[in-house]
Amino acid sequence: MRVLITGGAGFLGQKLAHAILAGGVGGKSDGQISKVDELVLWDQVFANSTAADSRSVNLTGDLLDGDVLRKALGDGVDVVFHLAAVVSAQAEADFDLGMRVNLDGTRTLLEACRNLPTCPVFVTTSSVAAFGGAVSNPVPDHQAPTPRSTYGTTKVIGELLAGDYSRKGFIDGRIVRLPTITVRPGKPNKAASSFASSIIREPLSGQAAVCPVAPDTPLWLMSPRRAIDALAMAAQLPADCLGDDRVITLPGLTATPKEVVLALERAAGQAVAERVEWRRDPAIEAIVATWPGAFEAKRARDLGFIADQHVDEIIRAYMEDEM
Ligand SMILES: NC(=O)c1ccc[n+]([C@@H]2O[C@H](COP(=O)([O-])OP(=O)(O)OC[C@H]3O[C@@H](n4cnc5c(N)ncnc54)[C@H](O)[C@@H]3O)[C@@H](O)[C@H]2O)c1
Repeated sequence: MRVLITGGAGFLGQKLAHAILAGGVGGKSDGQISKVDELVLWDQVFANSTAADSRSVNLTGDLLDGDVLRKALGDGVDVVFHLAAVVSAQAEADFDLGMRVNLDGTRTLLEACRNLPTCPVFVTTSSVAAFGGAVSNPVPDHQAPTPRSTYGTTKVIGELLAGDYSRKGFIDGRIVRLPTITVRPGKPNKAASSFASSIIREPLSGQAAVCPVAPDTPLWLMSPRRAIDALAMAAQLPADCLGDDRVITLPGLTATPKEVVLALERAAGQAVAERVEWRRDPAIEAIVATWPGAFEAKRARDLGFIADQHVDEIIRAYMEDEM
């Protein structure tokens, strides 16, 4: 089995790669992708050399570079995890870059997959940013997308494209709408929701962090452990479970920044929790406050996808996995 991960040097790309190579990913699914023979990680830059594994190959280059694309797909690929993207605040600040990578890059990759002799499983990630403005709370599974950002708009177009390429039989698409994945290790990225990780990660490592939104802003969260399991499981679901609707809104956990910081205090003490400063940033709020804080996610639960139970569990997972 040959597996490709775009955005393979990123947060989820790296975690997914390690999980696939280690085996045992996929929740209730049958674990097929752990039988990978070649795992191609494609990204524009690799900061760290990934763990040596003879099955893993790093491919450096832009998503729209045709030569790199040909190398990435080779003679065929069984499963594509398309994770490369310009994230929310960056796409809002640089419209052209967001459109180029998230829209043109996705369409180019889909076209190349269409021309393969195989019909690859194509897992890609959408976001809570598919929604904004006046939507029901919690958001039902069949809510029409109402993006209120360039990032959200490109994600919704990606959902529609992957759905139609699946309907035509060019790919076997599975689009997972991820909650905000918390806690991201390492440094903050340019996602508007990056603070959801910073307010846990930085205080735990002795540093100050700023929460740029109101303490009672509802956030829809998921741990990296659950997210990686969900991506692997999405790849391995039988296609007939999905039918024509290829979008899966994953279950998550609603918590406000205030609840997150209280959980941090329970896990690490008051002095650590007091490292969080509450300073609102209108630019971040303008993006994040439009995102719904709760989703029904009934279809995903029925399919076997699992949410974290409590924000304490998310913090504990970070401390166990990263500290
Ligand atoms: N992490 C989250 O909370 C979250 C939530 C919802 C959706 N998502 C989506 O999941 C995916 C992975 O998220 P992540 O948190 O790992 O993001 P990330 O920023 O850590 O990783 C994305 C990777 O894409 C790469 N990339 C960007 N432009 C590229 C280009 N032109 N060519 C090649 N590679 C390029 C980046 O270098 C980066 O390594 C993204 O599509 C993101 O939009 C993430």
